[in-house]
Amino acid sequence: MEQERRLGIVVRGSLSAGLEARLDGAGSVEDMRVGKFVKVRGEKHDFFCLITDVLLHAANENVLAAPPLEDEQFLRQVLAGTTTFGMIQVQPMLMLARDPAADEGEAEGPRPVKTIPTHFSTVFVADEADFERVFGAPGEDRFELGTPLDMEVPIRLNLRRFVERSNGVFGKSGTGKSFLTRLLLCGVIKSGVAANLVFDMHSEYGWDSHTEDRHFVKGLKQLFPARVTVYTLDMESARKRGVRPDGEITIGYDEIDVDDVALLHEELRLNPTAVESANLVVEEYKGDWLRRLMEMDGEGLRAFCTAHGANVESLSALRRKLVAHLKPLPFLRERAEGRALDQVIARLRQGEHVVLEFGQHRRLLPYMLVANIITRRVHGLWINQMERFLQSKDEADRPTPLMITIEEAHRFLDHEAARQTSFGTIAREMRKFNVTLLIVDQRPSGIDDEVLSQLGTRITAQLNDDQDIDAIFTGVSGSSKLRQTLASLDSREQAMILGHAVPMPVVFQARKYDTAFYAAISPFAEERELVTARAYEELFPDAE
Ligand SMILES: Nc1ncnc2c1ncn2[C@@H]1O[C@H](COP(=O)(O)OP(=O)(O)OP(=O)(O)O)[C@@H](O)[C@H]1O
Ligand SMILES: [Mg+2]
Repeated sequence: MEQERRLGIVVRGSLSAGLEARLDGAGSVEDMRVGKFVKVRGEKHDFFCLITDVLLHAANENVLAAPPLEDEQFLRQVLAGTTTFGMIQVQPMLMLARDPAADEGEAEGPRPVKTIPTHFSTVFVADEADFERVFGAPGEDRFELGTPLDMEVPIRLNLRRFVERSNGVFGKSGTGKSFLTRLLLCGVIKSGVAANLVFDMHSEYGWDSHTEDRHFVKGLKQLFPARVTVYTLDMESARKRGVRPDGEITIGYDEIDVDDVALLHEELRLNPTAVESANLVVEEYKGDWLRRLMEMDGEGLRAFCTAHGANVESLSALRRKLVAHLKPLPFLRERAEGRALDQVIARLRQGEHVVLEFGQHRRLLPYMLVANIITRRVHGLWINQMERFLQSKDEADRPTPLMITIEEAHRFLDHEAARQTSFGTIAREMRKFNVTLLIVDQRPSGIDDEVLSQLGTRITAQLNDDQDIDAIFTGVSGSSKLRQTLASLDSREQAMILGHAVPMPVVFQARKYDTAFYAAISPFAEERELVTARAYEELFPDAE
């Protein structure tokens, strides 16, 4: 069996430049593809390698001067594999002890390459068992994200490691980011390694979502009905789609901070003094600041400015913009009613999963405002909980790991915002408090460098812009070869994963998000959960 997979032997190489292997006569050099995985069996280690180049060689240069003619098949066959032969260049990516027991206490499992195999070590095509040794065997906390481009073996992600750090899904529009995110969320929900809060800007994660191929795919609520709850900011839109959310979120003016408004500086075109002026209003009216400011008439505003030394123009511009942009938002109330928001937080603390749909409010302003308000609350609570745990050392007090998914992440995490918002703090340091982000974005170059360098795992589909590609590799060593690989990706459903949750960077064909996937991931796929959202209403008529 192994002989069938044998490709050739290592003849030359160095740790820095990689290895060269001479191919056996039997195989065709045309079967060798750049990017294919091979295994080199050394004396003490197996080396898991990638083919980086394919070459033609001749042992005797005279043959090249007098080559066999086209019809001299016999002569060609005689030469092939002895005088003329193919070579491959391979780059060792990881090494594994051949006999872990005899390995002088070194840790089992894949390790970074620190040496090279001996002369004439045999090269094999990597098989499923090799992939399992590298990417892990099937198990609770492993998730199949896809397959390598030329093989039908699973690439597995370590979910426990995945949720330990903040992560990113990048790629230009239409490359499959939302689908990859859906796959990852399914994996995390199924394994139970973290609770999820999804800020679902385009209402595509909770219920059915329409694809570019003109069919519908299932949402998380349909695959995990008991573990996922869907809240909405727009009951009207949910009704129109025939969806019954578990609750409607409203937010009180008294829950909005100056920070939330500062985050919207671009959307509202605020000048820098606006925030200073707002702070003066907060000093005076505390939690009631926003309502009081919006209610001020011209005279009241001038009087306030005189009394508090605020700039009249800047404060009245701020007031005008807040009235114009916040007043019309139907989910904002004068005072917090808070129940739905409390429920959301309570569910997350219990390890459940919440999708927050924005319905028609898919403009950036409401999205950023709401996401920031909720995240700020989560942020504070998780810090308190962790402090309680550190004091009591009681496992029951340990805060539930939480992953927060945001789209259009660069708007929350650009250089300026990353310093001001809870999102910035979470991306930089909240893993210590068990909160991490799943950033979904098509413009990674807009994200603050410090945030990018903190990302644990990056999953990147096709990107064309050089700045975006540079951003992906912020803080990654040896990225020049990876850049080439990234450039070779298809425009859809292929991506490269690198970082904390995988032992080595690898390009993969994304797993299909289809009925076969539903059946594999969800015990409900065959039952009522394959119904559409509308049929759900019919099954539960009293729910209306
Ligand atoms: N894993 C997958 N399984 C099935 N179909 C997929 C998968 N990935 C991508 N697709 C197809 O590609 C289309 C685009 O994918 P998706 O909506 O995830 O792109 P996107 O990167 O999120 O785009 P945008 O930036 O515009 O939101 C989908 O509508 C679907 O038809
Ligand atoms: Mg998308």
